[in-house]
Amino acid sequence: NKELFNEKLFSTLDNGEIENSRDWSNSVDPSCNYNDVVGLLKSWESLNTIKLDYIDSIVNCLTDAGKEVLKNGSPEARLYQSLTAEGMSPADANKQFGASAFGSAKNKGWIEIVKGKILRKAESIVDTVKQDLEGDLSKLDAKILTDYKKARFVEEKKMSFYKVSKGEQYNKRSKELSDLTTDMLKDESWSKESFKVNINAMGLVPESGYRHPLSKVKNEFKQIFLDMGFEEMPTFNFVENGFWNFDALFQPQQHPARESHDTFFIKDPMTSHDFTDEHLERVKKVHSVGGYGSLGWIYDWKIEEAEKNILRTHTTAVSARMLYKLAQNGFKPKKYFSIDRVFRNETLDATHLAEFHQVEGVIADVDISLSHLIGVISEFFKRLGIDNIRFKPAFNPYTEPSMEIFGYHPMLKRWVELGNSGIFRPEMLLPMGLPENVRVAAWGLSLERPTMIKYGLDNIRNIFGNNINVNFIKNNPICMFESK
Ligand code: PHE
Repeated sequence: NKELFNEKLFSTLDNGEIENSRDWSNSVDPSCNYNDVVGLLKSWESLNTIKLDYIDSIVNCLTDAGKEVLKNGSPEARLYQSLTAEGMSPADANKQFGASAFGSAKNKGWIEIVKGKILRKAESIVDTVKQDLEGDLSKLDAKILTDYKKARFVEEKKMSFYKVSKGEQYNKRSKELSDLTTDMLKDESWSKESFKVNINAMGLVPESGYRHPLSKVKNEFKQIFLDMGFEEMPTFNFVENGFWNFDALFQPQQHPARESHDTFFIKDPMTSHDFTDEHLERVKKVHSVGGYGSLGWIYDWKIEEAEKNILRTHTTAVSARMLYKLAQNGFKPKKYFSIDRVFRNETLDATHLAEFHQVEGVIADVDISLSHLIGVISEFFKRLGIDNIRFKPAFNPYTEPSMEIFGYHPMLKRWVELGNSGIFRPEMLLPMGLPENVRVAAWGLSLERPTMIKYGLDNIRNIFGNNINVNFIKNNPICMFESK
């Protein structure tokens, strides 16, 4: 419809002016909304394509009473029509037709009063008021019009309009469209049009939640594990007991990591016991007197230490539970991973927090060796974009051999420690009931370290804890490792 009005507007102005915008819009489309037409005219006026002169005009219109006359006749005519041979009392006439009906009918010689009753006097009547109101009000005699106004059949209304003529820019008007419609998108006609608005402008950034950098990096790790055929371990329990966190891993009860300055102990409930008697007996034996070809640690193993509840210090506690389950359900080769939170009673500084996230990979298969572990870890880091890695012999209570993993950091121009790895000891696997020829290789690293490197941060408190800047979360791009 806008197109129609534009077309008519310019074809009319090409040949002259539009005297009255109201009449003109009515002639283009009687069902149009005049306010919309004014909006259209105003938008052309703002570009100086057309010139608008505002004209205030007073127009006479019928009131509701006037419209009633059009329908049913004037009050005096209705009074006349209603009279029967018996007549009507003036009081009734007043009540039914209003105070002026009787007087007007009498002045016009239509009725008379006989013995206090109104009777017809004229044979027939012509209702000139109705005729006048039906016609063009502007053509009425001024005095008669004033009478109709007094009778409240006619009232004055302000009806402004515009006179429309060519503006300074009329001949330079652009053919640019102001609206991009769904139809144009559907039939692709938009591509041939030019627009007043910049349809290539970027939209507003929608208000929404943002992924935390740790969560973005976590998703990348997860994808790499899944691509390599690893299954995720259930790591939803933050509370562990000493048994699964340490004892089942052949970590002796006097180990410094088990002291309260390294581990958080739970007060309530202080203990738990969710391991079988057989497993307990075998773990106790291998710690205190040895077995499976091992001398053990040789000390007095106490169940009380194993039952103490703690916040898990590593996700290897969950790996131990999964391997035990695997042994119980009949061994099958498996590749497991987890990425979740662990807790340590650390002195807080720029690179240490009391809680952080561990990424852990576990491969369990028959007769696998250290070279398998090196191969899988190399592939894993290659997929993170780190293909220059080195291994350094290390010690872990539950792995033998153990290797720290280092990667060359091209920005820092030095080797940085990436994680820890090893082959789980027989003293851990055999008490679980795993077959003798099954080897389990594993590695672990923190989620925070690669995230800090990736986002160029030197303080861990900028990505985790109550000190992080919300805008940092919002403004940072998705992290992508340059996977090979
Ligand atoms: N649990 C070790 C840590 O906390 C990481 C690790 C996992 C080491 C598996 C060897 C094997 O650092």
